[in-house]
Amino acid sequence: MGKVIAIANQKGGVGKTTTASNLGDGLAQKGKKVLKVDMDPQGNLTTSAGIETEIEDRKNNMYTLSDVMLEKINNDRLLDRNEFIVSKSLTDIIPADMSLSGVELALVNTMSREYVLKEILDNIKASYDYILIDCCPSLGMLTVNSLTAADSVIIPVQAEFLSLKGLELLIGTIARLKRQINKSLEIEGILITMYNKQTNLSRQIKEILEHNYGQSIKIFKTPVPKSIKVAEAPIEGLSILEYSPGNVVANAYRNLTEELLHA
Ligand SMILES: Nc1ncnc2c1ncn2[C@@H]1O[C@H](COP(=O)(O)OP(=O)(O)O)[C@@H](O)[C@H]1O
Ligand SMILES: [Mg+2]
Repeated sequence: MGKVIAIANQKGGVGKTTTASNLGDGLAQKGKKVLKVDMDPQGNLTTSAGIETEIEDRKNNMYTLSDVMLEKINNDRLLDRNEFIVSKSLTDIIPADMSLSGVELALVNTMSREYVLKEILDNIKASYDYILIDCCPSLGMLTVNSLTAADSVIIPVQAEFLSLKGLELLIGTIARLKRQINKSLEIEGILITMYNKQTNLSRQIKEILEHNYGQSIKIFKTPVPKSIKVAEAPIEGLSILEYSPGNVVANAYRNLTEELLHA
C-alpha cells in the first residue's frame, strides 16, 4: 500500500508545489512508483509539469481532480483511473485546474465530506509506493480532505518569512484532525525552504524552528537553499532534479528523499 504524504502550509509561496514536484521525482529516481496529486485550484503542480488542462484537452477526454471528486460527491461513483491519471516521464499526476475551487463549495453539503479524496486514493493506493498531495494555501475543506487522506504531512516553511501564528494554527489543525478523523496521521517533518545561509534572517528562522519545535517535530536536516534555477525549471515542464541535476536545490531534494526513505 502506498504511503500518502500531504505537503501542507496555508501560507502561499512557501515551496509546497516545488517540494511535491521534486520530492516526487527524487523518490521516482530511487525506483519508487510515485503519484503526485494537485489539490490546489491554482493548478501550479499541473502546469509546472507541462500539462495543459484547457478545453482542448477536455475534448480528448481528459478529466481533472475536480471531475473525479464531483463524480464521487454527486453520483458516489469512481471514474476509471485511466481517464484522470496522466503519466509523465518519472511519475504519474492527477492534474487540477480552477474548477477545483467549485469542489470546495460542493463539499459543504456532502455527507462524509472529509473523506472524498481519501476514498478516491484508497482505490488506487495499491499501485504506488508514494502518493504526494500538493495542498492549496488554505485550511478549508480541500486541505481537510488532503489531511484525511494522508498518512503524514510535510510542512514547508520559508526561511525568509516566519509566521509562528500560522504554523501554530496548522499544527493545531493537524492535531485536531488526528484526534477526530485520522488517528494515524503523523507530521513527517518541517522542511526549511528558500534558505540563504548568508543572511541572519534565514539562520534566525532556522534557530527559532529548532528551538520551538525541534523536541516534538522532526526538522529535516538539509534546508532547501534558494536558487534562481527553481523558477526556470517549470517553464520547461520539468522538476529541478530533471532540469538541473547538479543544482544545489536538486541536491537538497535528493537529501530530503534519502531522509524520508530512511526515516
Ligand atoms: N528553493 C527555492 N529557491 C528559489 N525559489 C524558489 C524555491 N522554492 C520555491 N521557489 C519559488 O517560490 C515560489 C513559490 O514556490 P511554490 O513551490 O510555488 O510555493 P507554494 O506551492 O507553497 O505556493 C515559486 O515562484 C517558486 O519558483
Ligand atoms: Mg503551490
